Formats: sequence, C-alpha cells, structure tokens
Amino acid sequence: TWSPDSFIETTVAELKAKLGDDRVILGLSGGVDSSVAAMLLNKAIGQNLTCIFVNNGLLRKNEFDDVLDSYKHMGLNVIGVDASERFYNDLKGVTDPEQKRKIIGRDFVEVFNAEAKKIEGARWLAQGTIYPDVIESCSVKGPSATIKSHHNVGGLPKEMNLKIVEPLRLLFKDEVRRVGKAMNMDQRLLGRHPFPGPGLGIRIIGEVTAEKVRVLQEADAIFINGLRDAGLYDSVWQAGVMLLPVQSVGVMGDERTYESCVALRAVISTDGMTADWVHLPYEFLANVSNEIINKVRGVNRVVYDISSKPPATIEWE
Ligand code: XMP
Repeated sequence: TWSPDSFIETTVAELKAKLGDDRVILGLSGGVDSSVAAMLLNKAIGQNLTCIFVNNGLLRKNEFDDVLDSYKHMGLNVIGVDASERFYNDLKGVTDPEQKRKIIGRDFVEVFNAEAKKIEGARWLAQGTIYPDVIESCSVKGPSATIKSHHNVGGLPKEMNLKIVEPLRLLFKDEVRRVGKAMNMDQRLLGRHPFPGPGLGIRIIGEVTAEKVRVLQEADAIFINGLRDAGLYDSVWQAGVMLLPVQSVGVMGDERTYESCVALRAVISTDGMTADWVHLPYEFLANVSNEIINKVRGVNRVVYDISSKPPATIEWE
C-alpha cells in the first residue's frame, strides 16, 4: 500500500540513479506541487538542483519576497528573478483574457529560459506535474483545457536539449501534500489554495496596469488574511478577489466618490472542474467589506460572487 515515507524512499533512490551527478533546473511557482518536487530533488541531488522563481508582477501581496525567503530557509538553491516590468509592459492595452494568458505564458517561458541558459551543464528540467495535469493535457476535450488555455507546461529552451523529470507524475494533490508533510515542509505552504499561473492578471478584468495590481493585492490580502484569522481558510478550496472594470458612485464624508468595485470569490471543490460558492458568514463578509472599503484607496464597493461552476467558472476570465 502507498505511504508517503515509502514513496519518498523509492523516489529519492530512483532520482539518484537516474540523475547521477547531472545538474537539474526546476521552476518554482510558490505552489504546493513545484515546492514538493523541489524538496524531493533536493533530498536526492542537493545543490545539483537549481530552482528558478520568477516574479511576473501578478503574484499576491509580498508573495515574491516571502516565498523566496521560505525557499531559502528550506535549503533550496534558488534564483529569484523579478520581471514584473516586462510583464506590465507587454500587457499594456490588452483586454482579451486568452490574449493575456498567452502573453503571460510566453513572457514566463522567455524569462525562465534566459535564466536557465545561464546554468552551465544543465541536463534536466524538473517539473511538479501531478497526475490530474497528465490526464488533463491528454484529454483533447477536457473542459478547462478547451475553455481556458492553461500554461503550466511551458515550452522548453530547445537548444539546451533538456530531458524532463517529473517525480510527482503519479500522485494526486492530497498525496503530494502528505509527501510534503512527511518531509516536514511548512504546513502553511502545503495547505495553500490553488493559484492560477497567470495570477492576478486574470483577476483584473480588462487591461492590467501596475496600479490595478496594487489595488487588487491590497484587497486580496485583506480577504485572505481575514479567512486565516477567522479560521475559515482551510475550509475553503480556493479564494480570491476580482477587480472589476466598473466604477460606481459612493459617498465618503461629504464627498461623492466614483471608484472601483471588487468581487470576492470563495469556492469549495475537489478538483476545480466543478465548484460551489461558499456560504461565508455574513458577519465575516461585513468585516472584510468594511476593511477593504476603508483601507484600499480606489475601491468604494464590494460584492460577493454567489455563482457555482458550472455554468460559471471559478476565475472571471
Ligand atoms: P476555472 O476558472 O476554469 O478555474 O473554473 C479552474 C481552476 O483552474 C485555475 N485556472 C488556471 N490555472 N492557468 C492556471 O495555471 C490558467 O490559465 C488558469 N485558469 C484557471 C483556477 O484558478 C481554478 O483553480
């Protein structure tokens, strides 16, 4: 029968045999899968693993610095690349969701490859692909594969001739979390909600700008920290905030305001294919709404998304 400890033991032995003294590159996303894959490889080949963590400017508030720090604490050999400006530049004027995904995906691959090429003698590219990803990229008509183009599996730097190694290929998400736990990884990292590759880029409806990212990061941090403080984070499968391309009238003191509206989204799901909106307590929603409107400059209205998937999707774009 499957157990995390025996999985770790066999996988580490297999990785050692397969990789020998070869150098391996891995892209970290801050998510559970790539982090657990990195820790397994670290156990097997130590400093022959080089990890690359790209800031696309579309991560959560403080996420790049916080996550980079925790990777370093975990003993990973990691290079952090802040490419935010490049992403913002390339997203200028772009409003179509699929176009945004393509640009973010393409920029990521280019930034990653430029970094990867600097790593001399690298022979392998490691990925945190898990079983549901394998299934999804095989099925021509998988709902999320056709409705929205996911870009987890990016293009490789072809001229580098890297071979692929995917130690989590046969695992489901809960097994990945158990493997991480057995390696004493931070529970907070292992319990993180899923977060889309294009990040806040597809939660800013319409054109993405650095200023809109700032506004959304603030609102999102209030919502997510609120869920944690209220002990609700772990009972929600995924949560986030959407910045809507809508301005509406409000009042602040004696002044009329005309500012942005954000939508809170929290769902329960098992695999993201179907999802129900979460009946968060009114009291909690009231507090989050007040805090966002009082503290986030540029937002004067908060709404809660009560749509399930299908027919709605989890993300708005
Ligand atoms: P939807 O919005 O299709 O989302 O109901 C289902 C799950 O997939 C995530 N998602 C993405 N993940 N690249 C990703 O890596 C994407 O382009 C993308 N679009 C949606 C979404 O956050 C949810 O967990």
